[in-house]
Amino acid sequence: MYKKIDAACEYIRSKFDKKIDIAIVLGSGLGPLADEIENPLELDYADIPYFPVPTLAGHAGKLIIGTIGDKTVVAMKGRFHYYEGHDMEIVQLGIRVFQRLGIEKVILTNACGGIREDLVPGSIMIIRDHIGLFCPSVLRGENYDEFGPRFKDMTEVYSKAAGNVARKVAAENGIEITDGVYAYFPGPMYESPAEILAYRALGADAVGMSTVPEAIAARHGGQTTLGISLITNRAAGLGNAELSHAEVVEIANKAEKNLVTLVKGVITQW
Ligand code: HPA
Repeated sequence: MYKKIDAACEYIRSKFDKKIDIAIVLGSGLGPLADEIENPLELDYADIPYFPVPTLAGHAGKLIIGTIGDKTVVAMKGRFHYYEGHDMEIVQLGIRVFQRLGIEKVILTNACGGIREDLVPGSIMIIRDHIGLFCPSVLRGENYDEFGPRFKDMTEVYSKAAGNVARKVAAENGIEITDGVYAYFPGPMYESPAEILAYRALGADAVGMSTVPEAIAARHGGQTTLGISLITNRAAGLGNAELSHAEVVEIANKAEKNLVTLVKGVITQW
């Protein structure tokens, strides 16, 4: 793992060696957020040692480094999902590389299904906490002592202070947001209606197939995380249509404008 992190970092540093303030991971259909980055330097995953090339629609495979306001940012356009067949070592690779590059703040975005009644397509939810009971641990196996301890506290995986910045930006721009609990489902099939009822009983407000492994790795490595979910559909059995990835990407693209304003505002004010 250290070998992979070092090799990827060395390549990135050879292309860009200044301090980066914030890393952003872009969810399904949220790639256009990266268009907001000024003076962008694009690095193809294919050229970054050990970075796999994403396998699905709605996910490009690029790191984009540049500025938003007075902040230097890096965006992962395309993330590594467990359901693609990657080990958790690869799922968390981007986050570990960001840690090694000295980046202290991370914004994780995703597209997900709404379970709570008010979470309808287009809603934006700040992640308050997560349920990762069905997520294989990214910290299993050898502990990466240089990053964090063997047994790490998980009481504030998602920074309350960062959530407050997001609420302030949303209020200033007339964007409606709420917060809630994001539950991880390994996928790649969507959940069954019975699984959604089970998740609801467990306290989940929304469900998706990413973010939790990365958030745990970020917390383990001492980063401050803001999690933002875009609800693209009612979760299985709660709406009246079958779920499809095309619909997820379509709704994500439509709701993009508010999300771009929110994320840009957070980056400048955080
Ligand atoms: N379930 C899981 N992942 C998702 C969903 C969903 O309903 N929508 C978008 N990603």
